[in-house]
Amino acid sequence: MSRRTAPADLRVWDLPTRLFHWTLVILLVALFVSGQFGGLALVVDRQVLGMQVKIFLGNMDIHMLLGQAVLALVLFRLMWGVVGSSTARFTSFVRGPRPLMAYVGAILRGEVPATTGHNPAGALVILGMLGLLLVQGGLGLFGNDDIFSQGPLASKVSKDTSDRLTVLHGQVFLLLAAVVVVHIAAAFYYLVRGKNLIRPMVTGRKGADSLPPDAAPPTIVSPWRAVPVLAVAVVVVWAVVTKI
Ligand code: HEM
Ligand code: HEM
Repeated sequence: MSRRTAPADLRVWDLPTRLFHWTLVILLVALFVSGQFGGLALVVDRQVLGMQVKIFLGNMDIHMLLGQAVLALVLFRLMWGVVGSSTARFTSFVRGPRPLMAYVGAILRGEVPATTGHNPAGALVILGMLGLLLVQGGLGLFGNDDIFSQGPLASKVSKDTSDRLTVLHGQVFLLLAAVVVVHIAAAFYYLVRGKNLIRPMVTGRKGADSLPPDAAPPTIVSPWRAVPVLAVAVVVVWAVVTKI
Protein backbone atom coordinates (compact mmCIF):
# COMPACT_ATOMS: atom_id res chain seq x y z
CA MET A 1 0.00 0.00 0.00
CA SER A 2 1.47 3.38 -0.94
CA ARG A 3 1.55 6.06 1.76
CA ARG A 4 1.07 9.74 1.16
CA THR A 5 4.00 11.87 2.27
CA ALA A 6 3.32 14.10 5.26
CA PRO A 7 2.25 17.67 4.52
CA ALA A 8 4.78 20.37 5.52
CA ASP A 9 2.62 21.42 8.44
CA LEU A 10 -1.06 21.56 9.35
CA ARG A 11 -3.24 23.88 11.37
CA VAL A 12 -4.38 21.57 14.14
CA TRP A 13 -5.56 23.79 17.02
CA ASP A 14 -8.03 26.64 16.57
CA LEU A 15 -7.55 29.99 18.32
CA PRO A 16 -10.27 29.44 20.98
CA THR A 17 -8.70 26.13 22.07
CA ARG A 18 -5.27 27.77 22.39
CA LEU A 19 -6.64 30.79 24.23
CA PHE A 20 -8.56 28.42 26.50
CA HIS A 21 -5.37 26.50 27.29
CA TRP A 22 -3.05 29.38 28.11
CA THR A 23 -5.72 31.40 29.96
CA LEU A 24 -6.39 28.31 32.07
CA VAL A 25 -2.68 27.96 32.87
CA ILE A 26 -2.43 31.63 33.96
CA LEU A 27 -5.64 31.41 36.02
CA LEU A 28 -4.52 28.25 37.80
CA VAL A 29 -1.21 29.80 38.83
CA ALA A 30 -3.11 32.86 40.12
CA LEU A 31 -5.59 30.58 41.93
CA PHE A 32 -2.82 28.63 43.60
CA VAL A 33 -1.13 31.83 44.80
CA SER A 34 -4.34 33.53 45.92
CA GLY A 35 -5.63 30.28 47.51
CA GLN A 36 -2.46 29.99 49.57
CA PHE A 37 -2.27 33.63 50.61
CA GLY A 38 -5.96 34.53 50.54
CA GLY A 39 -6.27 34.80 54.30
CA LEU A 40 -3.26 37.10 54.46
CA ALA A 41 -4.30 39.95 52.20
CA LEU A 42 -1.20 42.03 51.60
CA VAL A 43 -2.22 45.66 51.22
CA VAL A 44 0.14 48.25 49.78
CA ASP A 45 -1.30 51.73 50.11
CA ARG A 46 1.27 54.47 49.68
CA GLN A 47 2.15 57.66 47.89
CA VAL A 48 4.34 57.01 44.80
CA LEU A 49 5.39 59.98 42.59
CA GLY A 50 2.54 62.03 43.93
CA MET A 51 -0.05 59.31 43.28
CA GLN A 52 -1.82 57.17 45.83
CA VAL A 53 -1.05 53.54 44.85
CA LYS A 54 -3.21 50.81 46.29
CA ILE A 55 -2.33 47.18 45.63
CA PHE A 56 -4.16 44.24 47.11
CA LEU A 57 -2.37 40.92 46.80
CA GLY A 58 -3.67 37.48 47.71
CA ASN A 59 -7.19 38.71 48.13
CA MET A 60 -9.73 35.88 48.59
CA ASP A 61 -12.31 37.82 46.58
CA ILE A 62 -9.90 37.74 43.64
CA HIS A 63 -9.47 34.00 44.19
CA MET A 64 -13.20 33.39 44.12
CA LEU A 65 -13.66 35.54 41.03
CA LEU A 66 -10.86 33.73 39.18
CA GLY A 67 -12.25 30.39 40.35
CA GLN A 68 -15.60 31.21 38.82
CA ALA A 69 -13.80 32.30 35.65
CA VAL A 70 -12.18 28.84 35.52
CA LEU A 71 -15.59 27.22 35.91
CA ALA A 72 -16.89 29.27 32.96
CA LEU A 73 -13.77 28.42 30.96
CA VAL A 74 -14.16 24.68 31.54
CA LEU A 75 -17.86 24.86 30.71
CA PHE A 76 -16.89 26.69 27.52
CA ARG A 77 -14.39 23.93 26.67
CA LEU A 78 -17.03 21.23 27.21
CA MET A 79 -19.36 22.98 24.75
CA TRP A 80 -16.46 23.71 22.36
CA GLY A 81 -15.83 19.97 22.41
CA VAL A 82 -19.19 19.58 20.67
CA VAL A 83 -19.36 22.60 18.33
CA GLY A 84 -15.67 23.53 17.87
CA SER A 85 -13.09 22.53 15.26
CA SER A 86 -12.70 18.83 14.50
CA THR A 87 -9.58 18.41 16.68
CA ALA A 88 -11.31 20.12 19.64
CA ARG A 89 -14.30 17.77 19.47
CA PHE A 90 -14.52 15.00 22.04
CA THR A 91 -15.67 12.58 19.34
CA SER A 92 -12.30 13.05 17.62
CA PHE A 93 -10.10 12.26 20.61
CA VAL A 94 -12.08 10.33 23.23
CA ARG A 95 -11.56 6.72 22.22
CA GLY A 96 -12.25 3.33 23.73
CA PRO A 97 -9.87 1.17 25.78
CA ARG A 98 -8.48 -0.66 22.71
CA PRO A 99 -6.82 2.35 20.99
CA LEU A 100 -5.68 3.53 24.42
CA MET A 101 -4.00 0.18 25.20
CA ALA A 102 -2.45 0.10 21.72
CA TYR A 103 -1.08 3.61 22.23
CA VAL A 104 0.26 2.92 25.73
CA GLY A 105 1.81 -0.32 24.39
CA ALA A 106 3.60 1.66 21.68
CA ILE A 107 4.91 4.18 24.22
CA LEU A 108 6.14 1.34 26.48
CA ARG A 109 8.00 -0.15 23.49
CA GLY A 110 9.80 3.19 23.21
CA GLU A 111 7.89 4.42 20.16
CA VAL A 112 6.39 7.92 20.02
CA PRO A 113 3.42 7.61 17.66
CA ALA A 114 2.37 10.81 15.89
CA THR A 115 -1.26 11.96 15.99
CA THR A 116 -2.93 14.93 14.33
CA GLY A 117 -4.90 15.95 17.42
CA HIS A 118 -4.77 14.61 20.99
CA ASN A 119 -3.38 11.09 21.41
CA PRO A 120 -5.53 8.56 23.37
CA ALA A 121 -3.38 8.76 26.53
CA GLY A 122 -3.26 12.57 26.47
CA ALA A 123 -7.02 12.58 25.96
CA LEU A 124 -7.51 10.65 29.19
CA VAL A 125 -5.34 13.10 31.13
CA ILE A 126 -7.20 16.04 29.56
CA LEU A 127 -10.59 14.59 30.57
CA GLY A 128 -9.20 14.03 34.07
CA MET A 129 -8.06 17.65 34.33
CA LEU A 130 -11.37 19.03 33.06
CA GLY A 131 -13.33 16.81 35.49
CA LEU A 132 -11.11 17.72 38.45
CA LEU A 133 -11.37 21.42 37.59
CA LEU A 134 -15.18 21.20 37.66
CA VAL A 135 -15.11 19.40 41.03
CA GLN A 136 -12.48 21.82 42.39
CA GLY A 137 -14.38 24.92 41.29
CA GLY A 138 -17.71 23.44 42.41
CA LEU A 139 -16.36 22.72 45.91
CA GLY A 140 -14.88 26.23 46.11
CA LEU A 141 -18.36 27.72 45.66
CA PHE A 142 -19.33 26.15 49.00
CA GLY A 143 -16.05 27.02 50.75
CA ASN A 144 -15.08 29.63 53.32
CA ASP A 145 -11.79 31.02 54.64
CA ASP A 146 -12.90 31.33 58.27
CA ILE A 147 -12.13 35.07 58.15
CA PHE A 148 -14.01 37.40 55.80
CA SER A 149 -14.91 35.39 52.75
CA GLN A 150 -17.20 32.60 51.80
CA GLY A 151 -18.12 31.10 48.44
CA PRO A 152 -21.40 32.27 46.89
CA LEU A 153 -23.14 28.98 47.75
CA ALA A 154 -21.63 28.51 51.24
CA SER A 155 -24.79 29.86 52.90
CA LYS A 156 -26.76 26.97 51.33
CA VAL A 157 -25.01 24.47 53.60
CA SER A 158 -24.12 24.41 57.33
CA LYS A 159 -20.81 25.95 58.47
CA ASP A 160 -19.65 22.43 59.31
CA THR A 161 -20.35 21.17 55.80
CA SER A 162 -18.77 24.29 54.28
CA ASP A 163 -15.63 23.64 56.38
CA ARG A 164 -15.47 20.04 55.20
CA LEU A 165 -15.95 21.05 51.55
CA THR A 166 -13.16 23.64 51.96
CA VAL A 167 -10.79 20.93 53.19
CA LEU A 168 -11.84 18.76 50.23
CA HIS A 169 -11.24 21.78 47.95
CA GLY A 170 -7.62 21.85 49.15
CA GLN A 171 -7.23 18.07 48.74
CA VAL A 172 -8.70 17.95 45.21
CA PHE A 173 -6.24 20.69 44.29
CA LEU A 174 -3.34 18.38 45.21
CA LEU A 175 -4.81 15.69 42.95
CA LEU A 176 -5.26 18.21 40.15
CA ALA A 177 -1.69 19.45 40.61
CA ALA A 178 -0.41 15.85 40.37
CA VAL A 179 -2.28 15.29 37.08
CA VAL A 180 -0.98 18.63 35.75
CA VAL A 181 2.59 17.57 36.60
CA VAL A 182 2.07 14.33 34.61
CA HIS A 183 0.61 16.39 31.74
CA ILE A 184 3.56 18.81 31.62
CA ALA A 185 6.08 15.97 32.03
CA ALA A 186 4.44 14.19 29.07
CA ALA A 187 4.69 17.35 26.93
CA PHE A 188 8.44 17.53 27.68
CA TYR A 189 8.89 13.78 27.14
CA TYR A 190 7.47 14.19 23.63
CA LEU A 191 9.71 17.20 23.11
CA VAL A 192 12.92 15.35 23.97
CA ARG A 193 11.74 12.44 21.81
CA GLY A 194 11.53 14.79 18.83
CA LYS A 195 7.80 15.60 18.81
CA ASN A 196 7.11 19.21 19.70
CA LEU A 197 3.48 19.38 20.86
CA ILE A 198 4.01 22.61 22.81
CA ARG A 199 4.63 24.88 19.82
CA PRO A 200 1.36 23.81 18.13
CA MET A 201 -0.52 24.72 21.34
CA VAL A 202 0.96 28.22 20.85
CA THR A 203 0.89 28.71 17.08
CA GLY A 204 -1.89 26.28 16.15
CA ARG A 205 0.32 24.56 13.55
CA LYS A 206 1.94 21.14 13.85
CA GLY A 207 5.10 20.30 11.88
CA ALA A 208 5.45 17.28 9.60
CA ASP A 209 7.78 15.62 12.17
CA SER A 210 4.87 15.45 14.66
CA LEU A 211 2.16 14.43 12.17
CA PRO A 212 1.22 10.96 10.96
CA PRO A 213 2.19 10.42 7.29
CA ASP A 214 -1.48 10.16 6.24
CA ALA A 215 -2.65 13.20 8.28
CA ALA A 216 -5.69 14.92 6.81
CA PRO A 217 -6.18 18.66 7.44
CA PRO A 218 -8.61 19.14 10.36
CA THR A 219 -11.75 21.21 9.90
CA ILE A 220 -11.07 24.50 11.68
CA VAL A 221 -14.19 26.57 12.40
CA SER A 222 -14.32 30.38 12.68
CA PRO A 223 -13.09 31.63 16.07
CA TRP A 224 -16.15 33.90 16.20
CA ARG A 225 -18.24 30.81 16.87
CA ALA A 226 -16.58 30.72 20.30
CA VAL A 227 -18.05 34.10 21.32
CA PRO A 228 -21.67 32.98 21.90
CA VAL A 229 -20.41 29.71 23.39
CA LEU A 230 -18.30 31.62 25.93
CA ALA A 231 -21.24 33.94 26.62
CA VAL A 232 -23.48 30.95 27.41
CA ALA A 233 -20.80 29.52 29.73
CA VAL A 234 -20.43 32.82 31.61
CA VAL A 235 -24.22 33.23 31.95
CA VAL A 236 -24.62 29.67 33.24
CA VAL A 237 -21.95 30.16 35.95
CA TRP A 238 -23.35 33.57 36.84
CA ALA A 239 -26.89 32.09 37.09
CA VAL A 240 -25.69 29.20 39.26
CA VAL A 241 -23.90 31.46 41.74
CA THR A 242 -26.50 34.20 41.91
CA LYS A 243 -29.86 32.54 41.31
CA ILE A 244 -29.66 29.28 43.22
C1 HEM B 1 -2.04 24.56 34.92
C2 HEM B 1 -1.46 23.84 34.04
C3 HEM B 1 -2.10 23.18 32.84
C4 HEM B 1 -3.36 22.72 32.63
C5 HEM B 1 -4.53 22.69 33.60
C6 HEM B 1 -3.41 22.22 31.27
C7 HEM B 1 -4.52 21.67 30.68
C8 HEM B 1 -4.60 21.26 29.37
C9 HEM B 1 -5.81 20.89 28.68
C10 HEM B 1 -7.20 20.88 29.31
C11 HEM B 1 -5.46 20.56 27.42
C12 HEM B 1 -6.42 20.15 26.31
C13 HEM B 1 -6.53 21.31 25.36
C14 HEM B 1 -7.84 21.27 24.61
O1 HEM B 1 -8.07 20.39 23.78
O2 HEM B 1 -8.67 22.14 24.91
C15 HEM B 1 -4.04 20.70 27.29
C16 HEM B 1 -3.31 20.42 26.16
C17 HEM B 1 -1.96 20.63 26.06
N1 HEM B 1 -1.14 21.21 27.01
FE1 HEM B 1 -1.65 21.78 28.84
N2 HEM B 1 -2.19 22.39 30.69
C18 HEM B 1 -1.36 22.98 31.62
C19 HEM B 1 -0.06 23.37 31.44
C20 HEM B 1 0.67 23.12 30.32
C21 HEM B 1 2.04 23.52 30.12
C22 HEM B 1 2.89 24.30 31.14
C23 HEM B 1 2.41 23.05 28.91
C24 HEM B 1 3.72 23.17 28.20
C25 HEM B 1 4.86 22.92 28.75
C26 HEM B 1 1.27 22.37 28.34
C27 HEM B 1 1.25 21.77 27.12
C28 HEM B 1 0.14 21.25 26.52
C29 HEM B 1 0.16 20.65 25.19
C30 HEM B 1 1.38 20.47 24.32
C31 HEM B 1 -1.15 20.27 24.90
C32 HEM B 1 -1.63 19.55 23.65
C33 HEM B 1 -1.34 18.10 23.82
C34 HEM B 1 -1.60 17.33 22.54
O3 HEM B 1 -0.99 17.66 21.51
O4 HEM B 1 -2.43 16.41 22.58
N3 HEM B 1 0.22 22.43 29.22
N4 HEM B 1 -3.54 21.14 28.49
C1 HEM C 1 -10.92 25.49 39.80
C2 HEM C 1 -10.54 26.57 40.34
C3 HEM C 1 -9.93 26.70 41.73
C4 HEM C 1 -8.68 26.35 42.16
C5 HEM C 1 -7.58 25.69 41.35
C6 HEM C 1 -8.59 26.70 43.57
C7 HEM C 1 -7.48 26.50 44.37
C8 HEM C 1 -7.43 26.73 45.73
C9 HEM C 1 -6.30 26.45 46.57
C10 HEM C 1 -4.96 25.87 46.10
C11 HEM C 1 -6.64 26.79 47.84
C12 HEM C 1 -5.78 26.66 49.09
C13 HEM C 1 -6.16 25.36 49.75
C14 HEM C 1 -5.35 25.04 50.96
O1 HEM C 1 -4.36 25.68 51.22
O2 HEM C 1 -5.76 24.09 51.66
C15 HEM C 1 -7.99 27.31 47.81
C16 HEM C 1 -8.70 27.75 48.89
C17 HEM C 1 -9.95 28.32 48.82
N1 HEM C 1 -10.70 28.51 47.70
FE1 HEM C 1 -10.22 27.90 45.84
N2 HEM C 1 -9.77 27.27 43.94
C18 HEM C 1 -10.61 27.29 42.85
C19 HEM C 1 -11.89 27.78 42.79
C20 HEM C 1 -12.54 28.39 43.86
C21 HEM C 1 -13.86 28.97 43.80
C22 HEM C 1 -14.75 28.98 42.55
C23 HEM C 1 -14.13 29.47 45.02
C24 HEM C 1 -15.35 30.21 45.49
C25 HEM C 1 -16.09 30.95 44.74
C26 HEM C 1 -12.99 29.18 45.88
C27 HEM C 1 -12.90 29.48 47.22
C28 HEM C 1 -11.89 29.12 48.05
C29 HEM C 1 -11.91 29.30 49.48
C30 HEM C 1 -13.04 29.96 50.28
C31 HEM C 1 -10.71 28.79 49.98
C32 HEM C 1 -10.27 28.68 51.43
C33 HEM C 1 -9.19 29.62 51.81
C34 HEM C 1 -8.73 29.39 53.20
O3 HEM C 1 -8.81 28.27 53.71
O4 HEM C 1 -8.26 30.36 53.78
N3 HEM C 1 -12.04 28.53 45.13
N4 HEM C 1 -8.44 27.25 46.50
